Amino acid sequence: PLVPMRLLLDHAAENSYGLAAFNVNNMEQIQAIMEAARETESPVIVQASRGARSYSQDNYLRHLMLAAAELYPGIPMVMHQDHGNSPDTCKSAIENGFTSVMMDGSLKADGKTPADYAYNVQVTREVTQMAHAMGVSVEGELGCLGSLASGEGEQEDGHGATGVLSHDQLLTDPDEAERFVNDTKVDALAVAIGTSHGAYKFTAAPTGEVLAMDRIEEIHRRLPNCHLVMHGSSSVPQELQDVINKYGGKLKQTWGVPVEEIQRGIKHGVRKINVDTDNRLAITGAIRKVFAETPEKFDPRDYLKPARDAMKQVCIDRMVAFGQAGQA
Ligand code: G3H
Ligand code: 13P
Ligand code: NA
Ligand code: ZN
Repeated sequence: PLVPMRLLLDHAAENSYGLAAFNVNNMEQIQAIMEAARETESPVIVQASRGARSYSQDNYLRHLMLAAAELYPGIPMVMHQDHGNSPDTCKSAIENGFTSVMMDGSLKADGKTPADYAYNVQVTREVTQMAHAMGVSVEGELGCLGSLASGEGEQEDGHGATGVLSHDQLLTDPDEAERFVNDTKVDALAVAIGTSHGAYKFTAAPTGEVLAMDRIEEIHRRLPNCHLVMHGSSSVPQELQDVINKYGGKLKQTWGVPVEEIQRGIKHGVRKINVDTDNRLAITGAIRKVFAETPEKFDPRDYLKPARDAMKQVCIDRMVAFGQAGQA
């Protein structure tokens, strides 16, 4: 059944595991997650960005999620708004059946400009008041994802705006995190620790200089009862990069967030781990392989099925690694 995210995060905290939150835009991605959940007996968080909602249309998305809940009655499932940019976006998500919303007030409503603390508290508090009254969970974000760690000057939007803040200034400040959670009453807090969205996170295997896992430990010491969220947490496995490049793709060599670092985070309060890019890579690699090896094929099922299977395998791997397997 569809449940509020708070329920799953509380259970994860009590039992010391983490939950992957996978992004979806279409039926095959939802099917991949649900089949992985069934095989591993995992509770799941399925999330849709604003872009996903506009690509798939709210009505299609809502009915796909309802179909998933109907087909897998034994699996606790959360339908989460990823990176809501305003209280209005969160409100329309709730009206569409989402059981959890992220109010990302770390950025202004344009989704690009870093916002100040007062703005973030104001919009986030507005959302917690509205959402909690309806039994819907809320994730907030403090700090900025992105920029210098990627070596590409990418800001949170991933479109290469040059960072104006230093690496340290972008990271979540533990003092501010404490105030923010008390001021807003969020159920979960997304923290900035040097990761960024997309495939190009790090130009080499990340060290503690660029991937600040120690921040998580410090924030967890201050807020032991707050559920922490890691964004930009795809691991960008070498094998997935290789498949794409072997079959005609052109990815530059890149590094993501190692699964062991995420496991370390889970020991220190991380309960939700956002993963989109790894699934995108798996899907793209599988489709490229079919196109390269059997160019005569033109039935979409001939490549969408392998794509769905490839995503399902990534989901299974993360569910097992994060410890959510066996918890449904
Ligand atoms: O927030 C980042 C997620 O990977 C979703 O990406 O905004 O392109 O749908 P998107
Ligand atoms: P990745 O791009 O690392 O998969 O991160 C996804 C994310 O944080 C969605 O909010
Ligand atoms: Na989110
Ligand atoms: Zn994110």
